[in-house]
Amino acid sequence: MINENAEKVLIFDTTLRDGEQSPGAALAINEKLEIAHQLAKLGVDIIEAGFPISSAAQYEATRLCAEQVIGPVICGLARANEKDIATAGKALEAAQKRRIHTFIATSPIHMEHKLRKKPDQVLKMAVEAVKMARQFTEDVEFSPEDACRSELSFLYEILAAVIEAGATTLNIPDTVGYVLPYEYGQIIAKLKENVKGIEKAVISTHCHNDLGMASANSLDGVRNGARQVECTINGLGERAGNAAMEEIVMALHTRPDFFGKIGTNINTREIYRTSQLVSQLTGFVIQPNKAIVGKNAFAHESGIHVDGILKKRETYEIMTPEVIGLEGSRMVLGRHSGRHGFLDRCRQLGFNLSEEETEAAYQKFMELADKKKEIFDEDIAALISDEVRTVDQHYRLDYLHVASGTGTLPTASVRMKIGDELRQAAAFGDGPVDAAYEAIRQAIGLAPKLDSYSIRAITEGTKALGETTVRIQNSQGARFIGRGVSTDIIESSAKAYVDAINRMVAAKSGSRAEKIKNHI
Ligand code: KIV
Ligand code: ZN
Repeated sequence: MINENAEKVLIFDTTLRDGEQSPGAALAINEKLEIAHQLAKLGVDIIEAGFPISSAAQYEATRLCAEQVIGPVICGLARANEKDIATAGKALEAAQKRRIHTFIATSPIHMEHKLRKKPDQVLKMAVEAVKMARQFTEDVEFSPEDACRSELSFLYEILAAVIEAGATTLNIPDTVGYVLPYEYGQIIAKLKENVKGIEKAVISTHCHNDLGMASANSLDGVRNGARQVECTINGLGERAGNAAMEEIVMALHTRPDFFGKIGTNINTREIYRTSQLVSQLTGFVIQPNKAIVGKNAFAHESGIHVDGILKKRETYEIMTPEVIGLEGSRMVLGRHSGRHGFLDRCRQLGFNLSEEETEAAYQKFMELADKKKEIFDEDIAALISDEVRTVDQHYRLDYLHVASGTGTLPTASVRMKIGDELRQAAAFGDGPVDAAYEAIRQAIGLAPKLDSYSIRAITEGTKALGETTVRIQNSQGARFIGRGVSTDIIESSAKAYVDAINRMVAAKSGSRAEKIKNHI
């Protein structure tokens, strides 16, 4: 298996598993599926679709990816125990190509304080887990969690044992983002040299970004023999995140002089689109100076740089925006672009809409075109994600009126549609948004806690669309994200709040915990 990919680094995308563990990044199942389809288009080799035992939603997302996403290997995460592995195996049953990724911690601090187990017990559990996973698939990955703070001699021993038991990929997580690039590369080199049977497996990197080293560490791993990189789109992930896929892929692509012939199967022209999709669906805004995919990554401001670029692009650009799929991204549409022009642009932007969605999106486009002369790609993406990609609309905002101004008490009245029923309420608050939220709470009789609220202009100008992102918490502490888009910022705020509440309600009614119990 390793020879087939000798000069390829496999891209293992864990946006839907490790990425989704970012606080506040919870995605609905249909959103995960949409991201998975885009990852397949991007050309990732493996998609870690979820951690099936961890929740009903994770199980369902993994199952649906296995059933519907064609191309990449679909992977499910499992701790080193029978129940986790059987659940992952069941969730992955429909996949054409499936992988079980099982893990157990190997560092002294994790074994002693978290697992309360001795190294020989951990080794035995790892071997049994791999053997169990092999009953569901021949493609089994093993991770010694917190590998980079583990004793090397123990890693040699446990990795040799899991290879013997049938593991085909050995993933080396820097779980807490502790090591520096040289150190990480040396760990990979030493494993390559000292683990018995290592030539039968693919070595994989899995680096977290706590010290800002995740991408550099992964690349040093590749330089020393790793042939799989685990990463996420936009570097999403727990705490400071995981290694960013776009950074790894573009470093390999831009520096063949350094990395030699090592390449990936990624279609780099899909990078920007994928990054935007993940940002929109998770509500995690990309910082403007983010490498590769930030808004300013290809912007040149200083006179000297602009002059240089005009004379010869390579003076200040080491890669072109076209390579990541950014060409023509400033194309402007308007009222007169027509249905054909609009749909054509949607397709170019990667939105594959059903007939019904196309109609809804076009209506919204025309409404927006009445308010705003120039419509940019960012506007199209925002209106599609706001109006078309929504969860079940249990609650709908039917009417909103807000009065506020200097020296007056901000008040709001709303009418909410709940099925066929209409409920009205009026309230005042500290500001117009606060008043609108209070009125919504009173109308629907729910009071989720508002965790965070942010608003940004999608494009420039006073008629720009405002996109509001809110995060709310239910009484059990589960978090839900909501987005709303409008040229009116109070309306976009109210829509975002209602969207988050609908997601909270959908998650509750969609619980399949009982069904899952029956699967295992
Ligand atoms: O960071 C980590 O150790 C992980 C493992 C589950 C692979 O995500
Ligand atoms: Zn991780």
